[in-house]
Amino acid sequence: MAANKDNRVYIEDLSGHVGEEVTVKGWLYNKRSGGKIQFLLVRDGTGIVQAVMLKNEVSPAHFELAEKLTQESSIEVTGLVRTDQRAPGGVELTVTSLALVHLAQEYPITPKEHGIEFLMDHRHLWLRSSRQHAILRIRSEIIRLCRQFFDERGFTLVDSPILTPASVEGTTTLFETDYFEEKAYLSQSGQLYAEAAAMALGKVYCFGPTFRAEKSKTRRHLMEFWMIEPEVAYNTSADNMALQEAFVSFVVQEVLKRRRAELAVLERDVNKLAGVVPPFPRLSYDEAVAVLKENGSDIQWGDDFGADDETLLSSRYDKPLIVYNYPAAIKAFYMQPDPQRPEVALCNDMLAPEGYGEIIGGGQRIHELELLEERIRQHGLPEENYRWYLDLRRYGSVPHAGFGMGIERFVAWICGLHHVRETIPFPRLLNRIYP
Ligand code: 4AD
Ligand code: MG
Repeated sequence: MAANKDNRVYIEDLSGHVGEEVTVKGWLYNKRSGGKIQFLLVRDGTGIVQAVMLKNEVSPAHFELAEKLTQESSIEVTGLVRTDQRAPGGVELTVTSLALVHLAQEYPITPKEHGIEFLMDHRHLWLRSSRQHAILRIRSEIIRLCRQFFDERGFTLVDSPILTPASVEGTTTLFETDYFEEKAYLSQSGQLYAEAAAMALGKVYCFGPTFRAEKSKTRRHLMEFWMIEPEVAYNTSADNMALQEAFVSFVVQEVLKRRRAELAVLERDVNKLAGVVPPFPRLSYDEAVAVLKENGSDIQWGDDFGADDETLLSSRYDKPLIVYNYPAAIKAFYMQPDPQRPEVALCNDMLAPEGYGEIIGGGQRIHELELLEERIRQHGLPEENYRWYLDLRRYGSVPHAGFGMGIERFVAWICGLHHVRETIPFPRLLNRIYP
């Protein structure tokens, strides 16, 4: 049974076709039946519409087909578009004909509650639910806005390689692979390549998947996550923090404007996001340690913050908190020391409010050759793999700074999700690479 007329319209566009007969191509989301009437909830990826089928207005074959439709069966529904103020998009369809594309087998995900492991095992199907649609659309919007922010400011997108011989963020979280008898790793960060590109193009950013073999099972860690990393020649750490503030507020405010409906599906308290505008509160690492001690933490100067410390610090503010100038010893090898106090690095993290933890890490990079060589040795890194990186300090070296923002942690915060596993279509978690 084919729909007799192919005037295909997407559900999100139906309100522009009131009074017309159109065809919606999608899947059966849910169904309610009463003897002489069928209410078919149809989704097509752009929205959900209720299609009402009256027994005495369609052929018996079409009505019988509607009766046997199972959840997620693929269908083409032809009908008259009518306004209905109670319906989600303000419209519904009065069905004139129905065509089956594929009758779905018994669908494993039903409107009842399911456990998280079951849902993760069925992630490929779970993506079809309204809540996941909302999250994935917000993710897509956030990525678009991140690019827009930098594109509009004259940054050039420079893609960094995924296979690399060099570690950036320590050697304990590397995914190692064989590269024709040479050792290679999956990139932990595109930063070192972005630095080379910044010396060529001034203002650049890279954006791509990054990998960390994190042995920790937390609600903030993925093995594979996406990171946007701007890098700017001649920027100082202060410039770098100002850029982060402008960037984060731009993305938050634009998402609020453009994705209200999706945030409502997630029941996100948007008032908590509305105030995310510059200036953001700032604490030096020293001040942050003092605050933690006052609140009963046994942290000592020189220790890194744990998740609880970060939550304690950031929950004191409604906006993201910038913590700057951490001890050099707990940060990566490339961090520029403060000339007045070489034991601290000119770097910062940004901690999201409401306990979402670190969303940004960044800082000023060492631009002096001898110091960088010394740090590479101190960190036990194989110098031959960093020859090219050291070259950047041989030929027109300048101060420069940049940062990396993890997309999934950012999405978790904006969407108000407890765990990062729902912020990426197919999460790679400790002990999970399926599906
Ligand atoms: O602080 P990180 O390790 O910094 C860097 O990688 C720098 N090279 C970036 C730069 O300066 N260009 O990571 C940056 C951000 C974190 O703040 C966090 O948002 C995210 O990347 N991130 C993770 N997100 C999910 N799962 C993980 N395992 C993550 N590790 C880091
Ligand atoms: Mg970090």
